[in-house]
Amino acid sequence: MTKGIGGAADKKSSQKKRAGLSTLHRASQSHMVLAGGVFAFLVVAGIFSFAAWQHWKHHELKVAQRVVDSKFDGIHVESNTYANDRLQGYVAYVLTENTAINESIRRIANAYFLPCKEIGLLSPAKKVMECNANFEIDFATADYIGITYTFRQHMPDRGDKSKKISLLYDRHTGRQITIADVFKPDAPFLETLSRLSRAALTAHVGDKHKDQQVQAAIAKVTEPQAANFNNFSFTADEKLVMTYNDIAPEAGVEGMVPIVLPPDELYPLFDAKTVQAFFPKLREQKEAERKLAEEVEAQRRRTRNLVGANRSNVNCAVMKCIALTYDDGPHATNGPRLLNILKERGAVATFFVLGSKVAAHTGILQRAVAEGNEIGNHSWSHANLTNLSAPDITNEIRQTEQAIFNATGRYSRLMRPPYGAHNAHVVASTGLPMALWNIDTFDWRDRDPNVIYQRVVTSASPGSVVLMHEIHQASVDAAPRIIDELQRQGYVLVTVSELFGITGDNLPQFNGQVLRRR
Ligand code: NI
Repeated sequence: MTKGIGGAADKKSSQKKRAGLSTLHRASQSHMVLAGGVFAFLVVAGIFSFAAWQHWKHHELKVAQRVVDSKFDGIHVESNTYANDRLQGYVAYVLTENTAINESIRRIANAYFLPCKEIGLLSPAKKVMECNANFEIDFATADYIGITYTFRQHMPDRGDKSKKISLLYDRHTGRQITIADVFKPDAPFLETLSRLSRAALTAHVGDKHKDQQVQAAIAKVTEPQAANFNNFSFTADEKLVMTYNDIAPEAGVEGMVPIVLPPDELYPLFDAKTVQAFFPKLREQKEAERKLAEEVEAQRRRTRNLVGANRSNVNCAVMKCIALTYDDGPHATNGPRLLNILKERGAVATFFVLGSKVAAHTGILQRAVAEGNEIGNHSWSHANLTNLSAPDITNEIRQTEQAIFNATGRYSRLMRPPYGAHNAHVVASTGLPMALWNIDTFDWRDRDPNVIYQRVVTSASPGSVVLMHEIHQASVDAAPRIIDELQRQGYVLVTVSELFGITGDNLPQFNGQVLRRR
């Protein structure tokens, strides 16, 4: 193709040369006698050469090629620059030990670069066209090489164009890896890729997605067909990147759009070779999670065998017990969520409720009790009981007891004073065991599930009572991990009454006692 373009340039220049020749010819006739034929010929030839050199100097396509090492073993980069007064061109090719790979890559790079170069060489002089085909090696292992080409084209009158093409090869066979090659053959990967890509592209275009043209274009490029997902790459930090070029140029969505697909959903669909080659860290993490889940499940089975269907088998004098408590509810959404989390894990907790909130959420209390959880009294109005008279304290407690009874058909066996604020006067006035705590998560202050989780698991010991709040979402978010980890460590999660062995019969002997931990 270079030859063809050179030919076109030559034709133009020879027309110019002929014009120069005839002028000289007339000039030489008037001096023929003095100079003679030979001299004339030399002058003509000299000027002819000068004109040709002038022309050649401008349009000469300077080509420079060099081969340099890449930062990856055994992989080199061949770079080619082309330059004259019409074209600035650069194309790089990868050179591996596998010629099939090299040829395939060269073919793909040329498919973008050569047409651009051709347009450049034919363009009017002084309007420099820029064509650039460069690549980055995404990664290179002994088995695979992944590269991403960026093609940029700058046309003086028509602006810039760019696109990205990612390529993945098997370094042994030289075969290009397609999207279908990286998944298990029977996995529904096209549907999953389609859904994830569509969501990511919609997020990427933002408000523009309301434009019907853009919406239709996104739907089209993410249809569940393999051809829509072959421009992909795996990154060194274990991400699957899907690149889309010029999704809807007519609606202003053009150029390269690389989107990162979350690997969690795709992970189970990848075939074993893909996981081994491109997701070793994620595999380690998933493997650790699986082992942890197995340990938790084994411990749960042990606890189930120990306790059986009958909670009266719980004996914290011999078992490794811990009591989680949640205050200030009931809460319309957090309550049911917590109950689900507990139920799924065969765990129970104690809910210290405010009497004033109970009537609106009787269903939550009924369910909690039916599933083995305990309801405790946290006063009617969350008042600091140390500031109240004996009759007022009694009122706060009695009203709440009535609300709990109305909702569940039973009275509570425990009370927890708001803020933990108590004195001898309060203890004497409530007429119930006073359930405090020995592990404070400060979840009301630090509403961060990780912080709450850490505080519980680092302080946990058999017989502990943990203070948390039903009204804080972060505490509910932390619950699954807290319970799983405690169960993995062999804890039996119990109610406060179970922890201290309080039953209906022995309740009076606990009245007036302050319970912090067993
Ligand atoms: Ni409280």
